[in-house]
Order: sequence, then structure tokens, then C-alpha cells
Amino acid sequence: MGQETPYKLSKLPPKRENVETIQILRSANKASLAIAELKGIAQTIPNQKMLVNAVVLKEAKDSSEIENIITSTDELYEALTSSKTQINSEIKEVVNYRRSIFMGYDIIKEQGFLRVNDIIKIQQDLIENNAGIRSTPGTVLKNDQTGEVVYTPPQDKSEIEDLLTNFIIHFNETESDLSPLINLAILHYQFESIHPFYDGNGRTGRILNILYLILNDLLEIPILYLSSFIIKNKGEYYKRLNAVNKKEEWESWILYILKAVKETSKQTIRQIQSIRELLKLTINKVRNNAPKIYSKELVENIFEQPYTKIEYVTKKLGVERKAASRYLRKLKEIGILESKKVGKEMIYINKELIELLKKDH
Ligand SMILES: Nc1ncnc2c1ncn2[C@@H]1O[C@H](COP(=O)(O)OP(=O)(O)OP(=O)(O)O)[C@@H](O)[C@H]1O
Ligand SMILES: [Mg+2]
Repeated sequence: MGQETPYKLSKLPPKRENVETIQILRSANKASLAIAELKGIAQTIPNQKMLVNAVVLKEAKDSSEIENIITSTDELYEALTSSKTQINSEIKEVVNYRRSIFMGYDIIKEQGFLRVNDIIKIQQDLIENNAGIRSTPGTVLKNDQTGEVVYTPPQDKSEIEDLLTNFIIHFNETESDLSPLINLAILHYQFESIHPFYDGNGRTGRILNILYLILNDLLEIPILYLSSFIIKNKGEYYKRLNAVNKKEEWESWILYILKAVKETSKQTIRQIQSIRELLKLTINKVRNNAPKIYSKELVENIFEQPYTKIEYVTKKLGVERKAASRYLRKLKEIGILESKKVGKEMIYINKELIELLKKDH
């Protein structure tokens, strides 16, 4: 097939026999076990918000690196914590992605389904631009290195809308007897191939992935992200997407996503375990070395907000500024926090946790 025959994207669902081969079923089984284990372990963490904050921030950073934005974790936390208003555009991208994940999560939790308009809302929030669905032709996907056009998505606005309507029906279909993880792979392919927006299709599609997992009850909280896997296997990611476009090669694409789910679940489990250990260690250290200020809430607070400040502690613990300040100084004195002055503010950093979050597990 040459470029003279433009590819016409089919509606969902693909033929069942193409997406349910023996290999795929086996792999889906393994991935389901891994994600179920992750769901179970996540439930054992006492403070769920602490976990979500940590994992979502890492994802926001990883996801933005697909677009080659290299932002340091420290800079990022600083931007989130300090009341300084001017932040650079790269940090802003990460901050936006994180906010959009939470926005999507709230929508799913509140409605129990997603509408096309919600997808548009998420993308608008993400890239801070209200162009919405593509209405001017000309968008093509090119190979980064060679500039060669690898895929031409639908150009006509009404065709895009029609495909999105079909997409959302399958996205919300939670009673299907097809494994939701297989469907995840199909939906992600379909969304990226519709490519409904001028920009942000990759990021929006990655947010849809996590929302889909939650909608299907595979997870309770948004903690499984494939961006890190995709970055590491980016060449394959593009190649597999392309092979579905060109040759309806579903099997290798679906296997790729299932592998991503399995490996990332395991990696996230290891990450949760090490967060849990560090939490335990920290609790003991504070209990032993600063028994007068110890409270579970205080320690959890510096895990929920690894970059913290007096104001946060005041709010979270309902104590006076003076007390909050004393707690933080004491935690610094016993070696749990480090402090740093940003502008006029003093920020306290749970350094060990930050180091742990930076690591690959
Ligand atoms: N051959 C292809 N078929 C379908 N989708 C593709 C193909 N090649 C790339 N894509 C998708 O296009 C996305 C990039 O689109 P876009 O630039 O709009 O998104 P982004 O969020 O700005 O970028 P990124 O995903 O790189 O962060 C990729 O993440 C990928 O999912
Ligand atoms: Mg882009």
C-alpha cells in the first residue's frame, strides 16, 4: 500500500479473532493478575492521597518527556509548593498534565462514565487552548527523524466526531466479555488514530487509559501509568501503532500494551513497598527522637507533600503557625527534613522520599 491509498480508519470493534488470539489471552491473564495485585497492595497504604500524589507526579514528568521536556523533580516540587507565580513553560506542562489527570478522575468518579465533551474538556485543560476538535485539514503524523509522513488521520471534522462517538460507546462499555485490558489496547490505538486534536493527543490518550482502568474497577485510585514504559520502548510504540494502521496487525500491538501493564504494575508494586517501608522507618524515627511532636498525621503529611511548608501543616493538622513551625524545625533537626528558602518562604523537603520517587523500581 502506497500513500496514494489513504488509510481509512475503521470503527470499533475490530474482528474478535484478531484481538483474542491464544497468545493475547495468555498475556491478558498475566497482566490481569499483576494489576489485581497492585490494586490489593495499594489498598494497604494507610493514606491513599499520599500514594496518588507521589505516583501521579512521576507520571506527569514521565509523560512530558515523551515530548522531550526534561524537568527535574526538585524544580517541579518547588513550583508546586512555593507561591512564586512565574514558572517556566516546561514545568507548566507537567503541572497541567497532573491537574488534568485529577480532573478526569473527578469526572469519572462523579458520573461513572465519560462523554466526548469530557475528553475535549480534559484536552483543553491540558494544553490551555480551546481549539477543540480539528476542523482544518492538514494534520499528519511524521517520523521525528526522517520527516516522512507515517500516518494521516481522518481530516474531516464530521468524520472525526463520528469516530469519537463510536469510540466513547466502547470506552463506556463495562459489561463486555472481552478482557478490559485487551480493550484498553484497542481503545488507545483507536483514540491515537482518530487523533482528534491539533495537539495533546498522546497525553490525552494516556489520561484516558488510567480513567478506563478506574471505570472498569481494575484500580480504585489513579496509580498505573504506562508513560515510563512507553518512553523506554518508544520506537516499538510507534512501530506497533503503525502496523495496526497499515496491516491491521493487532496482535503485536495488544501484546505490547499488555506487557506494559504487567511490567508497570510490578514496578509500581515495588515502588509502593518501598514507600511503605520508608514511612514505617520515618514513623519510628520521629517517635524515638522527637516523641513530643510525634503524630501519625504529621508524618503522613510530609509523605503526602514531600515539599511542605508551615501553611500546609497548619491546615492539615489544625495547629497554630507557631506549632507548625516548631514541628518542621524539629523534623529538620532530627534529620528527616531539609530546608530551603524559596523567595521569602521556607520550604521543607522530605529528601529521602524525593530520592525514592526519582528512582526506577
Ligand atoms: N502511526 C500512528 N498511528 C496512530 N497514532 C500515532 C501514530 N504515531 C504516533 N501516534 C500517536 O500520536 C501521539 C502524539 O500526538 P500529539 O503530538 O498530538 O500528542 P502530544 O500529547 O502532544 O505528544 P506526546 O504523546 O509525544 O506527548 C503519540 O503519543 C502517539 O500515541
Ligand atoms: Mg505534541
